[in-house]
Amino acid sequence: MHTSVCPQVDWVGYVDWNIRDFHSYKTERGATYNAYLVRDEKIALIDSVKKPFAAYLLANVRELVELEKVDYIVCNHAEQDHAGALSVIVPQFPNAKVVCNARCREILSGYCDTSAWNFHIVNNGDTLSLGQNTLTFINTPMVHWPESMFTYVPEKKLLFSMDGFGQHLSSSERFDDEIPLETIMEEAKIYYANIVYPYGRQVAQVLEAAAGLPIEIIAPSHGVIWRTHIPTIIDAYKRWSARTAEKKVVILYDTMWESTEIMANAIYDGVLSVPGVSCELHHVRKSSLTQIATAVMDARCCALGSATLNTLPMPTMAAVMNYIQGLRPPVKYTLAFGSHGWGRGAVEEMTSWFEKVQWDAVQEPIRCKWRPDEETLAKCHTAGVLLAEKAHGE
Ligand code: FEO
Repeated sequence: MHTSVCPQVDWVGYVDWNIRDFHSYKTERGATYNAYLVRDEKIALIDSVKKPFAAYLLANVRELVELEKVDYIVCNHAEQDHAGALSVIVPQFPNAKVVCNARCREILSGYCDTSAWNFHIVNNGDTLSLGQNTLTFINTPMVHWPESMFTYVPEKKLLFSMDGFGQHLSSSERFDDEIPLETIMEEAKIYYANIVYPYGRQVAQVLEAAAGLPIEIIAPSHGVIWRTHIPTIIDAYKRWSARTAEKKVVILYDTMWESTEIMANAIYDGVLSVPGVSCELHHVRKSSLTQIATAVMDARCCALGSATLNTLPMPTMAAVMNYIQGLRPPVKYTLAFGSHGWGRGAVEEMTSWFEKVQWDAVQEPIRCKWRPDEETLAKCHTAGVLLAEKAHGE
């Protein structure tokens, strides 16, 4: 099945309705792997799909042209959700050159045997004429891999943006004006938080480079194609890449016998008593890492609470700390809290982790033995107020 994007350009990718775990990213709405066919005097396939779906891609292309007539296979990104099928499909296109940058060739050759492939290596700014249309290659290093590249077609004002501006969102519709914008933007934000967030500086550079290009269509490698709401997604990327912290407190906790949960709720009440500050409360065994990353992406304050299990935080909290450490959200202020029984440890571990991620504790940790008493809960409420004031104050 294919869908026309604009004259001479068709979507020929795969909609993965059933994926729910994308290397730990929880894809509650599925995903798509978008590939595109540009038909001109020369014919170019732009990107590919995951290896298990290679046959679908080939069938989609065959609906439009004979495989022998394809001249180029452009690989904008070597990650295997887009390049995994190349080892299957490249031999099926006997006259096609694989177009990519040198770094991409190196990575592709690390994943599979490319010795028989006919590469056409491009540098930043190089062009390739297809006849009426031109492919212009724009390197976008670390957005979000070192070899990442955009392909721009000036005659169509069309940007093939690879992972940029993507969303994990399966749908029978292909365009941004066919699905409620709130749904698309929710998934675009989740995608940014979990895939792109650490590379804000590089995203800002790409946005600056793209600012001079007339763009009427953005065709990413995941999710819907932007043709109506381009300013909305560009503005969101500008905001997100600035790594701006909002007046927001996120409270993350895990609990064994509800004591830490009771403390978390008392902190939450304290935060909410300060007007103008938003707050999210996540039991980390009930929220996914994907949701948690999205929550902290724009939070100025984030409190961590855990019961002590075998002298350490609960295992899910440890996983949360690990994930957040890699993403490096803009959190500045924090608080450690938690309950313990005969032995402590969780609060101490979280406090020492704060030094690694350079979060400043707004006060001493709050601990309770077995069950929080009224005095402990009053301390939690006061700490919540303090967190909210910090979130509000800058
Ligand atoms: Fe969708 Fe970075 O691959």
